[in-house]
Amino acid sequence: MRELKLSKAFTLLEPGPVVLVTTHDGKKSNVMTISWTMVVDFTPVFAITTGAWNHSFAALRKTRECVIAIPTVDMLDQVVGIGTCSGADTDKFAKFKLTPVQGQIVKAPLIKECLANIECKVVDRVRKHNIVVLEGVAAYVDPARKEKRTIHAVGDGTFVVDGRKLDRRKMMASKIPAGV
Ligand SMILES: Cc1cc2nc3c(=O)[nH]c(=O)nc-3n(C[C@H](O)[C@H](O)[C@H](O)COP(=O)(O)O)c2cc1C
Repeated sequence: MRELKLSKAFTLLEPGPVVLVTTHDGKKSNVMTISWTMVVDFTPVFAITTGAWNHSFAALRKTRECVIAIPTVDMLDQVVGIGTCSGADTDKFAKFKLTPVQGQIVKAPLIKECLANIECKVVDRVRKHNIVVLEGVAAYVDPARKEKRTIHAVGDGTFVVDGRKLDRRKMMASKIPAGV
């Protein structure tokens, strides 16, 4: 993984991919699938919707840290598998053949097989809506990866894969932060 400028980390989530969120509860690592995400601002701040119905949530609440990992279409069955079993009784890194990699700041591991990873700290919670607000503190991409297409959940068990990339950078110049 190559370090990505933190000021560009929001571009990993802006397209709305299904993500994997890793945690470490002090004893072991876990991972869950999240499709309810949003970019809150460029700094970067993100929000995810999750709660106590997931085993990961206890570690997220206790450590106030996680990693958002971005999987690609070749990982779809792993992504769905991870999101349909629980770390309460399953070592998902072993079961889904994921390689944990230590980041620089948080204890939750990066996932080597993913296209990109963002180390995050929990900075706020909107309890009424089960929204957890995260600040990205370090980001990485794997430039050597051939498959770069991310996946998008429709919500009914079907998924859409990235298609053509369209360039409107000139038209949007006034809205794009410097250096992005
Ligand atoms: C495609 C997909 C998307 C999901 N999105 C979310 C989500 O946005 N929020 C959430 O709380 N759970 C979501 N889940 C469910 C969790 O990933 C699932 O409950 C998982 O088993 C939690 O793992 P854990 O108990 O080890 O934390 C999703 C599952 C799938 C398969």
